Amino acid sequence: MKILGIESSCDETAAAVVEDGRRVLSSIISSQISIHREYGGVVPEIASRNHVLNINGVVDQALKEANCTLNEVDAIAVTYGAGLIGALLCGVSYAKALAMSTKKPLIAVNHLHGHIAANYIAHQDLTPPYLCLVVSGGHTALVDVKSYTEFSVIGQTADDACGEAFDKVARVLGLPYPGGPEIDKLAKEGKVSISLPKPKFSGGEIKFSYSGIKTAVVNYCHNTKEFNKADVAASFRYSAVSQLIDNTVKCVKKYGYKTVAVAGGVGANSLLREEMEKAGKKYNFRAYFPTPILCTDNAAMIASAGYYDFMENKGIAGLDLNAHAVLGL
Ligand code: KG4
Ligand code: ZN
Repeated sequence: MKILGIESSCDETAAAVVEDGRRVLSSIISSQISIHREYGGVVPEIASRNHVLNINGVVDQALKEANCTLNEVDAIAVTYGAGLIGALLCGVSYAKALAMSTKKPLIAVNHLHGHIAANYIAHQDLTPPYLCLVVSGGHTALVDVKSYTEFSVIGQTADDACGEAFDKVARVLGLPYPGGPEIDKLAKEGKVSISLPKPKFSGGEIKFSYSGIKTAVVNYCHNTKEFNKADVAASFRYSAVSQLIDNTVKCVKKYGYKTVAVAGGVGANSLLREEMEKAGKKYNFRAYFPTPILCTDNAAMIASAGYYDFMENKGIAGLDLNAHAVLGL
């Protein structure tokens, strides 16, 4: 079964054709990073306008590279939330028009289900149940993946998302948008030498918090006359990643998971990948990561999640489908 996936929730216009949820026939990503970099972050209105300009060409290219016509596609899957409302509407409206004109089924996909499904493309052997650490620009959560289409949140952030904190700290250090990869690069040249606060939660709660560390870094930079940017990057990266690893390990110990997958843009972080592998060896679980390009926004993951929804008769939408800026798992 071939699914055409469409993604436009933030600043990437993407389309992909995926066969049987796992085999990528094409994956096209048109990134707007260079446009938004000038403003230090994504400008929603500019993102929407560029999705409108790009989407037709991106879908055409995805079909061409997959060597497949629109008629040969079995269904159209589109991200309908969470994300920037105007940006989402571009993909949703386009997908609805395609579905109407071709009389193909339309599948509404939750962006986070997509991030989780990126692991099915990267690892043919991965099957639920497992624990998934979802870490992106908008979300930080530990999720019990019960089946391909059933999820339950075990713990999440009490304030900022991890990726958001990476982007804010990068901004304070004068690094370009998006800050996550820049901090990751710079941290390799620095030492973990600045002590940053560790969030404390009562009892055995599994919760994340990034606003305290972010504020501590901002204050340090404002109140210190001369500092080494690479050391700040290394210290922040270490604190941010430690929290992700500590909570994952807590969850593994508490619930006995043998498999942990990582999903979302921060999953591309080199220290997180190293430390999760190490933790897996120590605490006896197998760690899975999508390749870095599948960690950040793409449409192959949307087509994959759409396939599993479609197989279980879920997510099938009508032409009244709307976009949702906020959407739980
Ligand atoms: O999943 P994603 O592409 O979009 C959302 O759904 O939010 O994640 C984007 C986030 C950004 O905050 C970006 O800075 C972060 O992922 N990111 C990273 C790295 N690569 C991307 N954060 C830390 N280290 C990286 N290597
Ligand atoms: Zn995303």
